[in-house]
Amino acid sequence: MGKALDGVRILDFTHVQSGPTCTQLLAWFGADVIKVERAGAGDITREQLRDVPGADSLYFTMLNHNKRSVTIDTKNPEGKLVLEALIQKCDVLVENFAPGALDRMGFTWERIQELNPRMIVASVKGFGPGPYEDCKVYENVAQCVGGAASTTGFDDGPPVVTGAQIGDSGTGLHLALGIVTALYQRTMTGRGQKVLAAMQDGVLNLCRVKLRDQQRLERTGVMKEYPQYPNGTFGEAVPRAGNASGGGQPGWILKCKGWEHDPNAYIYFITQAPVWVKICNVIGREEWATHPDYATPDARLPRLKEIFAEVERWTMTKTKFEAMEILNEHDIPCGPILSMKEIADDESLRKTGTIVEVEHPVRGKYLTVGNPIKLSDSPTEVTRSPLLGEHTDEVMAELGYSREQIDALRTAGAI
Ligand code: COA
Repeated sequence: MGKALDGVRILDFTHVQSGPTCTQLLAWFGADVIKVERAGAGDITREQLRDVPGADSLYFTMLNHNKRSVTIDTKNPEGKLVLEALIQKCDVLVENFAPGALDRMGFTWERIQELNPRMIVASVKGFGPGPYEDCKVYENVAQCVGGAASTTGFDDGPPVVTGAQIGDSGTGLHLALGIVTALYQRTMTGRGQKVLAAMQDGVLNLCRVKLRDQQRLERTGVMKEYPQYPNGTFGEAVPRAGNASGGGQPGWILKCKGWEHDPNAYIYFITQAPVWVKICNVIGREEWATHPDYATPDARLPRLKEIFAEVERWTMTKTKFEAMEILNEHDIPCGPILSMKEIADDESLRKTGTIVEVEHPVRGKYLTVGNPIKLSDSPTEVTRSPLLGEHTDEVMAELGYSREQIDALRTAGAI
């Protein structure tokens, strides 16, 4: 069976996490992704957080599946010529260097256009144009400047970053959409274009509901679904909402049986309005179904703390999985807090290819997250990440270099 992006060639000039996330997705959709790395060293993550001596780290292997690796010294004049040949052959150049690095290498947008006017040049940067555009940015910086940290955590504590890599992987995902959109537009215009996904913008896009709340706060001075209501105070900016749910269906994380020794014996519980009567019945507070202080969503808002405490008295008598089973029977939305260990062992995630076991020639078997986006006509087979420079000769030959030329370039240190 063919793949959605069969025939698309990507010059993958990415490193660390944000860019590689993007090109890995494109590879899973069938693009030929040629990762250009610095000879001898490669993507810095190959050796970061290493758990098997001498083997590429999980950090690298889990972000670079289905790619080919070539090593080119792009600061060497002859290496530059090899890169030029690649630019002429590829459809998209993806990079996430620090601002200005590609220009300093001599590959400005104008130069790339001269070499290949159909080339799409896609970049992740920390910030878009403005006062901070020259700054280097990593994940947690993006979470802080994109509004996630100021709105995450509890009201009486400091800002908190989330474990989900919304700055890096989130922005890579945004960039991938920009690239396929530009490829689509190119089918009509014949021209390439620049695609920029700034990490601050990507995080802010994922924090859209918090900018919504900022405006609600300014208008009304209070947000009734936040835990600060009715007893706490609201300031000028959206406060941290703890575990409250973002929308109009109040939720909270509640203890389950075993919470004293298991840090993940908890469940997320949502008091969805349409199933309120069922909730009352399940927790044994049938009278709340009709009591004027509890029967309507508005009446419940100032009493959420008390209500969740009562629901928790019930959830503490069940394991998180027992609670989920019972609640699901009644259509009550909830979610057990799954540990990474439980997720790694989850049979259904393995069946769908979301968790995949991959064989690597140096490190052996490891688990990875497969393609989370499933296309019925373009299935994903996850293959291992490339060794450093594993495909240099193969790609050079495809570019038309002879055996002798390849050897000479290697001797010159260009590849
Ligand atoms: N041959 C020769 N030189 C190469 C090369 C190659 N194949 N590949 C990269 N280089 C050079 C670059 O030209 C650059 O040189 P310069 O500084 O002389 O211009 C240098 O390697 C390092 O690139 P840089 O991106 O500055 O790496 P860094 O380790 O200093 O910074 C980041 C890392 C992530 C902070 C930075 O790349 C960045 O801000 N990227 C954009 C935002 C981003 O993606 N952040 C999230 C990362 S998960």
